[in-house]
Amino acid sequence: MTIQSVGVIGAGQMGNGIAHVFALAGYDVLLTDVSQDALDKALSLIDRNLERQVSREKISAEDKKAAMGRISTTLRLSDLGKTDLVIEAATERETVKQAIFEDLQPHLKPETILTSNTSSISITRLASRTDRPEKFMGFHFMNPVPVMQLVELIRGIATDQATFELLHEVVRKLGKTAASAEDFPAFIVNRILMPMINEAVYTLYEGVGNVKSIDESMKLGANHPMGPLELADFIGLDTCLAIMNVLHDGLADTKYRPCPLLTKYVEAGWLGRKTGRGFYDYRGETPVPTR
Ligand code: CAA
Repeated sequence: MTIQSVGVIGAGQMGNGIAHVFALAGYDVLLTDVSQDALDKALSLIDRNLERQVSREKISAEDKKAAMGRISTTLRLSDLGKTDLVIEAATERETVKQAIFEDLQPHLKPETILTSNTSSISITRLASRTDRPEKFMGFHFMNPVPVMQLVELIRGIATDQATFELLHEVVRKLGKTAASAEDFPAFIVNRILMPMINEAVYTLYEGVGNVKSIDESMKLGANHPMGPLELADFIGLDTCLAIMNVLHDGLADTKYRPCPLLTKYVEAGWLGRKTGRGFYDYRGETPVPTR
């Protein structure tokens, strides 16, 4: 089987990045979301990010035009039934993802590969609720998708070798590198990254440092491209909290308990860049630390 058409569910920050890289690599992309506004915003963001690559001479203006021409949008989830590969990149809530797969299933071709861009939820459990656990995999992209080199490939207990090899080849065609991870809570990247971010929030909570000193310490002292709190805002504090909860529940170890300050920011709706405020306030010209 070869993959030519790809359905992407969810036009948020991951979904639009995924649509971007697939279209640029020559795949026909059908992007869906529950809101027309989200689809319109995603298309204009993809246009802007492709333009950024044109201006840095990473791609040509023709590449950009061709990529934009390969992306179509729909509000009807069922339209994705005709694609060869579906990538679910909806909200990081298991009930939402399960409902999407349930709604989509009756419309799918028998050979379509189903994947989820979940950053932490069990692939085996998601797969077990579908009619094709052997054709189901975790397909985890990193943010910003057009820039980050890695894609985690996560096999559920029933995923067959042919599905794994097919997706491995797709990652190669995208010009990215695959890392294979076993299906345990948060896989590899987030198993390591999120406890570090959570520890940075504890460092803030306990007054060991403030937002600026914590981020500067890790940027200048450990050569991280972003400080952990800046990175948390970039990923989304709700996503960080959801992943910590998956680690805490799934591994039953108190070392993964989410910092109460992280919970408080999420309860306030201060979710980071996407809501204009998190550990930094982004509403002015330059980000201002909130602590
Ligand atoms: N689309 C296309 N290109 C983009 C882009 C986007 N959305 N965002 C940035 N770029 C490009 C820029 O054009 C620039 O390209 P050149 O190198 O060709 O000049 C390059 O990326 C660097 O961008 P900037 O100069 O604007 O900014 P920067 O040097 O500060 O880098 C960054 C920005 C790449 C985001 C960098 O800060 C970084 O690597 N941060 C860490 C990101 C990270 O850790 N991501 C993983 C998060 S974890 C995750 O995603 C998993 C999960 O499940 C939560």
